Amino acid sequence: MLNFEFRNPTKILFGKGQIANLPKEIPAGAKLLMLYGGGSIKQNGIYDQVKDALQGFTVLEFSGIPANPEYEVLLKALKVIKEEKIDFMLAVGGGSVIDGVKFLSSAALYEGDSPWDILSQRISTKKGLPFGTVLTLPATGSEMNSGAVISRKETQEKFSMGGPGLFPQFSILDPQVVASIPKRQLANGITDAFTHVLEQYMTYPAGAMLQDRIAESIMQTLIEVAPRIIRDPADYEAAANFMWSCTMALNGLIQKGVPTDWAIHAMGHELTAMFGIDHARTLAIIAPSHYRYNFNGKKEKLAQYAERVWNVTAMSLEEQATAGIKMTEEFFHSLDISTRLSEYTGSYEGTAQIISQRFTERGWNGLGERKALTPDDVEKIVEMSY
Ligand code: NZQ
Ligand code: ZN
Repeated sequence: MLNFEFRNPTKILFGKGQIANLPKEIPAGAKLLMLYGGGSIKQNGIYDQVKDALQGFTVLEFSGIPANPEYEVLLKALKVIKEEKIDFMLAVGGGSVIDGVKFLSSAALYEGDSPWDILSQRISTKKGLPFGTVLTLPATGSEMNSGAVISRKETQEKFSMGGPGLFPQFSILDPQVVASIPKRQLANGITDAFTHVLEQYMTYPAGAMLQDRIAESIMQTLIEVAPRIIRDPADYEAAANFMWSCTMALNGLIQKGVPTDWAIHAMGHELTAMFGIDHARTLAIIAPSHYRYNFNGKKEKLAQYAERVWNVTAMSLEEQATAGIKMTEEFFHSLDISTRLSEYTGSYEGTAQIISQRFTERGWNGLGERKALTPDDVEKIVEMSY
C-alpha cells in the first residue's frame, strides 16, 4: 500500500427530510446566494423545500447554470457575488451546479488577471468562498470532494480544477430527490459513479486489500440497485443506496494508498467539449477500448474484478480479464448506454488526431497510473472507440 494523507471536511446530512436542517448549517447573518440549474428544482418541489427552510435568511438567487457548467454563465454569477458582497453560497443541483459553485468559490477570492487562469493553469485553490450543497442528482461525487470541471463553448475546452479549499462545508443528501430524475440521467449517474470506481481500481495490484474491497462493494451495490432505480426511481431503499454509492465512489477514500488512472476521464472530457455528449456516456465510449489497449498492464486487476464483482471464475487470468471488459460493456448496454462514438455522432472522423494533438500541446505526455500513456496511445484508444 502506498503512503497517504486523508482529510475530508465535508459534513454529510443524509436521509429523508434533511433539507429542513439547512438553517443550522448556514452561518447566522450570512448574505446568501442560492444557485441552481435550468429549473428542474421548481418542478419537483426541491426549490420550495429549500426556500421554506431558508426563511429568515437574506437569499439572492442565480439560476440557469447549464449541464457542463459554462464559464461565460458563471462569470455573470461572479459579478453578482462581488457586487452584492455575498458571503455564503448554496448550490442546489447535480454535479454541474455544484462544480459551477466551486469555480465561483475559487474565482471570488482569486486575485490574478483572469479567473480562466484557475482552469488553464490548474491553479490549486487553498481558500474559497464558503458554500454548501443540496444534491439533486447522484452521480459525480462533487458533493463530497474538492474537484470541479468547467466548460468553455467558445474554445471547445473542458478543464478540471480543485484544491483543499473547495470542499463543500456541508452537503444535504435526501434520496427522495431521485424520484423525479429522468431515466437518461439515472443511467448517466450509475455509469459515472461506476467509472469513478474503475479509474481508482483498474490499475495494478498495490496490496491495498481494504481499498480494493470497498471499491468492489461500491460497484456491486451499483450493479444491484441499477435495475431497481431505473424501474422505479421512487424506490427509497434503492435510491438511498444509489446515492451513497455515488458519493463514496469519489470522496477520496478509495483512491488513498493506491495508484489511480483517470485517463478515461481525460479523453472523455474532450468528447463532451467537442460533441456535447453527456459526461457519463463519454466514459462508456472510452473505457472498453482503454482497457483493451492497456490489457497487459491491467490484466491482474481486470481478472480480480471479473471474479469478485461479476463472479467469473474457472478460466485463465487472460480469459477472466477479457470477460471483465465484456461484462463492463454489457452493464453499460443494460442501462441503454451506447459504447461507440459513432453511435453519438456522424462526424467522428479525425477526432482521435484532434484529441492527441491537444494533449501534446498541453504537455499531457504521460497519463494513467504509470504516467506512460502518450498522445500517440490516446489517438489509438480514441480511434478504437469509433
Ligand atoms: O438544470 P436542471 O434543470 O436542474 O436539470 C438537470 C440537468 O438537466 C437535471 N436534474 C438534476 N437533478 C434533477 C434533475 N432532473 C430532475 N430531477 C432531479 N432531481 O439533470 C441534468 C443533468 O444535471 P448535471 O448536474 O449536469 O449532471 P451530473 O450530476 O451528471 O453532472 C455532470 C457534470 O459534472 C462533471 C461532469 O464533467 C459534468 O460537467 N463531473 C464532476 C466531477 C466532480 N466534481 O468531481 C467528477 C465527474 O467525473 C464529472 O467530470
Ligand atoms: Zn465522471
